[in-house]
Amino acid sequence: MQVFVDSANAEEIGKWLREGVVDGATTNPSIMFKDGVYDLEHGARALSALLGERPLSVEVTSNDPDEMLVQARELASWGANIVVKIPVINEWGASCLGVIHALSEEGIKVNATAILSFNQAILAAKAGAAYVSIFAGRIGDEGGDAATVMQNVRRWLDRWGYESRIIAGSMRGAMDIQVAAVAGADIITIPPQLLSKMVDHRYTRETVHQFIADAERALQQIRQARRASAAD
Ligand code: E4P
Repeated sequence: MQVFVDSANAEEIGKWLREGVVDGATTNPSIMFKDGVYDLEHGARALSALLGERPLSVEVTSNDPDEMLVQARELASWGANIVVKIPVINEWGASCLGVIHALSEEGIKVNATAILSFNQAILAAKAGAAYVSIFAGRIGDEGGDAATVMQNVRRWLDRWGYESRIIAGSMRGAMDIQVAAVAGADIITIPPQLLSKMVDHRYTRETVHQFIADAERALQQIRQARRASAAD
């Protein structure tokens, strides 16, 4: 299973790259805005370079299919590792599967995003999406069971031999990550603050504190023994 960072913050992405746990990154217009990336091209190019060969998802910002195609080709030209995010439908409910299909046929990798149901995921896979991003937290917001959706999509992709990879997104808490991993996500995209929570544990801190204190006590014993033998 791979781990992506759900962020446009170069400092945070760099930090987790150095920790050796990052296989890629995902962004969306809200994340770009939150992380202060207002110049999309400049920001995306910088993140693309930072990630090297690891994939970076960057999303189109239009409701119009023709405009999406134009934007997607432009986004993809900014870096060989850039994957274009296309929502499965636009904000008025019109299908964007044709856009996903056309881009995939051109060899542009598509991350079909804002997926909230099994049906949306399988259609995106059929249209040729390299990734299907299932927004677990948002499924839960509406009382849905994200684990079941992810499990069912996993089974369906495997049963029919589709190569689309499941990205579990919209992670809100540490438990969401465990649930997505068990449900069969290929990739979980995780906000940096949640990566910090994943690695931390109060009792681990206490345990390490105990080890360091005992190591210090052992050193004191050696020093005392040396002083005693020097005095003899
Ligand atoms: C995933 O690719 C998305 O960027 C992200 O996880 C969306 O999650 P949200 O519900 O926090 O907006």
